[in-house]
Parts: sequence; structure tokens; C-alpha cells
Amino acid sequence: LTEQREPGPVHGGALLQAAHEYGIAPGQWLDLSTGINPQGWPVPALEADCWQRLPQDEDGLPGAARCYYGNAQLLAVAGSQAAIQALPRLRHSVSRVGVLSPGYAEHAHAWRREGHRVRPLHAEAIAAQLPQLDVLVLINPNNPTAERFEPQLLLQWQRQLASRGGWLVVDEAFIDATPAQSIAAACGGEGLVVLRSLGKFFGLAGARVGFVLAWPSLLRQLEALLGPWGVSGPAREVARLALQDSRWQQASRQRLHAGSERLAALLARYGMPPAGGTALFQYCTVPAAAAVHRQLAARGILVRQFAEPAALRFGLPGSEEQWQRLETALAALMPRSAEACR
Ligand SMILES: Cc1ncc(COP(=O)(O)O)c(C=O)c1O
Repeated sequence: LTEQREPGPVHGGALLQAAHEYGIAPGQWLDLSTGINPQGWPVPALEADCWQRLPQDEDGLPGAARCYYGNAQLLAVAGSQAAIQALPRLRHSVSRVGVLSPGYAEHAHAWRREGHRVRPLHAEAIAAQLPQLDVLVLINPNNPTAERFEPQLLLQWQRQLASRGGWLVVDEAFIDATPAQSIAAACGGEGLVVLRSLGKFFGLAGARVGFVLAWPSLLRQLEALLGPWGVSGPAREVARLALQDSRWQQASRQRLHAGSERLAALLARYGMPPAGGTALFQYCTVPAAAAVHRQLAARGILVRQFAEPAALRFGLPGSEEQWQRLETALAALMPRSAEACR
């Protein structure tokens, strides 16, 4: 009971910590440190029932998810993070696990913690390493680098792994704005696991809802491991409504793509042309990442900093005023690059 909790990976969105560190009140910040849609799905007032009753499996959420993901082989979880932590426990023998690197660090952390042998892999090394892996974990598109993997290639790798009892795990947390890139609809056969999140595109990170798509026996084991009522009634209700709102989804895809292009152009104008981007963030490799991060934070703008390679990830501003604030800060930080571009 006295054992210290092992420190886990660092994340964006730690606004209260930044407020404390820089002495700027939480309400004064422009938080661009996550890839969460700043104009998320508008949550309405909910019926009292979903607060009062225990969550029920037949509440319409599985049907809404089936339609949205194009597949019935799925399980709702309390954020895809819950599945990231549980999956390594369902591989019963010690496995050689290739994990895309750099990438969302919780994957490697979770597999290591369960005693598996983790090999961090750059995207270019995967094909050559595949014969020596039991499990391959990818993030598509990747966070933070925005590398992408074509569905055909993924399914080819999955067949190779499955032919010897291996798994391909694809974390599609950032794929909702480009649904044609998803392989969620291909799940159902042994060896393919897809993770989805309502935290990013839908902007519902606080609700803690995600889905696992996989083959039936793995879903049953996962359900047994996680236990009943993992996703709260209000979160299930919000998720059901958001997944059914295809009009909002379509409009948001367009808005996010336009916003992301605008962000890429803005960063390029101030000397930080992105190395990659998705609809929800832009990723810039910047040798002076730590200094730029600090200087932006001193102006109340929080972005996500990475050490190796030195890089910054910028989420999308959510209003014209926020766009102006970011541009003003970049112009103050990088006056020369801006002038050179005029
Ligand atoms: C790539 C990726 N996958 C999964 C998650 C976890 O998301 P959630 O648990 O909110 O679904 C995150 C959160 O930052 C992420 O960046």
C-alpha cells in the first residue's frame, strides 16, 4: 500500500500545472497543448435518468457506434486509454512488441509494465522488423509526428502477424477527420485491434469514452477484465448522441481541415514550417523547442514540447481572437522570420 506510483508519460493539457509554474491564472491561458477539437460536439442538458440509473448495455450506444465505425465487433471503454492499459494483460506469454516511436508514450509504458519486451521503432524500420515481432502497435495518424500508414499496408502486416498468433494494434485516436484511412471496418478476425477515442475529433476528452474493435473472444476477455459500468451513464448518452450527429461531423471535418491548413501556414510564416500535421494539430521540429515553449508560456500560450527530437506540437485555436493572440506572440518571438517573408 505504501508503494510509490511509477511516474508515467507526460501529457499535454496540464493547464493547472502551467498556471502554477508561470504565475498566470488558468482562465488567462490559450491552451494549444493538446489535439482536442476546440469546437467540440455541443453537449446538451441530459435526462435525469442517465445520472440516476446504472448504465445499461442496451441503451442505444452500441448501435450508434456500429453505424459510425461500420462494424459490430466493438466494446465501449472509459477512453481508449483504458484499453491501452488493459490490452497487454491479455497477451499471456511474454511478447516482443514493436511500438512506433516517437509516438503516444502510454503504449510502450503499458506493454513494458506488464513485462513484455518493447522495441521502439521508427516507421521506416517496421517492415524489416516485422518477422521478429509478436505484436506491432501503431498510431495512425501518429501523434505527434502525423506519420500515416495506408490501410492496405496495415492489413498486409496484420496478416503476417496473425499467421503466427501475433497482433496488430492500431490506435486511431486522430483518424475521425479522415475516415477513409481507418481500418475499423476490417476488425473481427483474430489479430487485429483498433482503438478509437471520442476525446479528439468530438472534443469530449473529459467524458472518457472510447471504443475497442477486435475479434469476439478478445472483446469478451477485455470486458471481463474491465468489469461492469466502466463508462458512466451520462458519458454513454453524450457519446450516443455525438456518434449519431453526422451533420455536425461533416461540418467539423471541413472546419478542422481548414483550421489546420491555416495553422500550418501561420507557423511557416514565423519560421516553423511543420514537419507533419493532422486536422487537429501541427508538428514542428524546432532545435530551440524548449526556449520557444518557455517564451510562449510566459505569454500564456501553452503548447506541447518534445525533447527527442526537439519539437513542438500546436493544437488549433478555437476563435478569431485566439488566432490573433497566437500570431501576435509568434511575431514577437520570431520577428526576423516574419520580416523575411513579407
Ligand atoms: C494517440 C492517442 N491515443 C489515445 C489517447 C487516449 O485518449 P482517450 O483515453 O481520451 O480516448 C491519446 C490521448 O492523448 C492519444 O494521443
